[in-house]
Amino acid sequence: MIPKSVSAEIERLRREIREHDRRYYISDKPSVSDAEYDALMRRLRDLEASHPESVTPDSPTQRVGGAPFADFKPVDHASAMLSLENAVSEDEFRDWAARVAKGLGPAEKPEFVIEPKIDGLSCALTYEKGGLVRGATRGDGSTGEDVTANVRTIRSIPLVLEGVSTGRLEVRGEVFINHADFDLVNEAEERAGREGFVNPRNCAAGSLRQKDPGTTAVRRLRFFAHSVGLWEGAPRPDSHEECLEAFLRMGIPLPPLRRKVSSVEEILAFYAEFRDRHLPRLAFAVDGLVVKVNSLQHQRRLGATAKCPRWAVAFKYPASQAKTKVEDVIFSVGRTGAVTPVAKLKPVWCAGVTISSVSLHNFDEVARLGLKVGDEVVIERAGEVIPKLVAVVPESRTGGEKSVSPPKSCPSCGAKVSKEEEAVAYRCQNPSCPAQIKRSLLHFASRDGLDIEGFGEAVVDQLVDSGRVKSIADIFSLNKEDLLGLELFADKKADNLLSRIEASKSRPLSKLVFGLGIRHVGERTAETLACLHSLPGLARASAAELAKVPEVGPVVAASIASFFGSAEVARLVERLMKAGLNFEKMGAPKTDGLAFSAKTFVFTGELSSMTRDEAEGRIKELGGKASGSVSSKTSFVVAGAEAGSKLAKARKLGVQVLTESEFLALVEQSSKGKT
Ligand code: IVH
Repeated sequence: MIPKSVSAEIERLRREIREHDRRYYISDKPSVSDAEYDALMRRLRDLEASHPESVTPDSPTQRVGGAPFADFKPVDHASAMLSLENAVSEDEFRDWAARVAKGLGPAEKPEFVIEPKIDGLSCALTYEKGGLVRGATRGDGSTGEDVTANVRTIRSIPLVLEGVSTGRLEVRGEVFINHADFDLVNEAEERAGREGFVNPRNCAAGSLRQKDPGTTAVRRLRFFAHSVGLWEGAPRPDSHEECLEAFLRMGIPLPPLRRKVSSVEEILAFYAEFRDRHLPRLAFAVDGLVVKVNSLQHQRRLGATAKCPRWAVAFKYPASQAKTKVEDVIFSVGRTGAVTPVAKLKPVWCAGVTISSVSLHNFDEVARLGLKVGDEVVIERAGEVIPKLVAVVPESRTGGEKSVSPPKSCPSCGAKVSKEEEAVAYRCQNPSCPAQIKRSLLHFASRDGLDIEGFGEAVVDQLVDSGRVKSIADIFSLNKEDLLGLELFADKKADNLLSRIEASKSRPLSKLVFGLGIRHVGERTAETLACLHSLPGLARASAAELAKVPEVGPVVAASIASFFGSAEVARLVERLMKAGLNFEKMGAPKTDGLAFSAKTFVFTGELSSMTRDEAEGRIKELGGKASGSVSSKTSFVVAGAEAGSKLAKARKLGVQVLTESEFLALVEQSSKGKT
């Protein structure tokens, strides 16, 4: 027998967790932090573990369960899962609307519901007496595949419906993945040495058809409902809009930005508004709108063809790919001298913007694409994502195309460009190269560096081109005259910039160390170094000493030592000191007495309950450190899903390995004891 108080707590926890899921996935307004949510889940898991008889299949703890399976069982759909007719232009859309008007006759004035067309894959969810009993893919429309175990892992899909305890309901909708989660999956795939998915849709499809539900679970798929397959045991509402409202009350998530209208002109206006205002900002892929006749009576009168209902249409946006010509390939020189090829394009309109250049990243990529100047190419842009060149169209070649090879000399200063063995990048070897200086200055003044607002590209270009600034230290000897000589600089603007430069002198040392742009020294390493040494101390430290610092390996140590070993850097440090910059060692973060002080954590693989940043934040709060590489100094390696080589290294070095839930338990335990 489970004590009454325990079963009451279990019920309360389940209700609370479902409510948080609802707020997160339906209202898009999370009301607790991930940590609080995890704590509720953990408490529920613990209680269920002590009282196994209390576990019910609809408990939020039971989303991931069951062993990997060999094959997906076929499922016959209750009614055919139809497709949608496409309209790819205003004319085609008007034709559809005219057919609707004709089909209903002049006496009727139909209303329409407009929804985004989610670019995922259709899925049918069957609920019996309010409980999820099956999830199936569309398949050929009449028979799909049983993916119930995988569907259960999708947190936006309720395992039990609110306020429904009878009847049968088949909810149809789209399973998809957000852009950000898609990137995480691909990063993890690449870390594991596999090729990533080509787009979010393939990623969602591949993830839903996993034979191991545990893999589906970590992919963070989502679901939005868009139609009804079966509605039994309760009267079906009279309109699509009311069905959607009923779904919401049951806790089923719907696509955002829906709209009900009653004229074709309103639909066209919304089509344009959605394209310009919403489409570029959405967190997931949408390739058009779906326009549906609202009244079910109207829908029945219009009927369907063999493949598509006549009462709905997919009003598509033009594909976000575009073809254009590569007019030139130029070479851009970065802060470290790395030469990046950039394709200059015949400007082309793609997904709401004009694109006239795209980065090709490196010369290996140019070779992989087989790109030549003059080629016709396909470029792609999804949402607000940076455009990329995806393919060359070799059929369009005329023979006049010119191949691209790495430049022998720097386009900015003419110095020699060469490639270190094993490296991918070609570099300009001249440390006084103006292009490198400009990039270094911008890095130095950037938000994560000394944060000098107003010291942007336009200012830097003029200061370097006019010879007023040749090195970082020159920033601090700029006077008002110098600034008044710049375009669009009047009294006030010059004074403002000078006072910002002055203020930047007292930023914490970590900002200065980062801003110097030492190769391999990111923000985190800069902070560690600044807590251990003053700037002169750092400049004096040997590579061997630096390598002893947690998370500074031999490569980083050598890079720091060689940076400060240069006579030019020594002069720079000297001048920065004279200018009065803050060189003071930073107070070490107060970690004494905190549970994780002096502990270093390394993450590998994908975490399912939080992002890496969040996990690292928790470690920091408890006085610990997160590092990117495993060494014998590492205290713990936290292995998420599909952990890679770091896990192997940890095992080899005998470093303690934690699973994600062990890590969470440790954090929770340690937070309790936090002083
Ligand atoms: S309504 C009878 N609404 O698009 C068809 N479909 O190209 C009912 N889709 O198979 C579908 N977003 O999987 C509808 N808001 C939306 C949709 C949507 C995406 C998918 C659906 C369908 C495919 C047709």
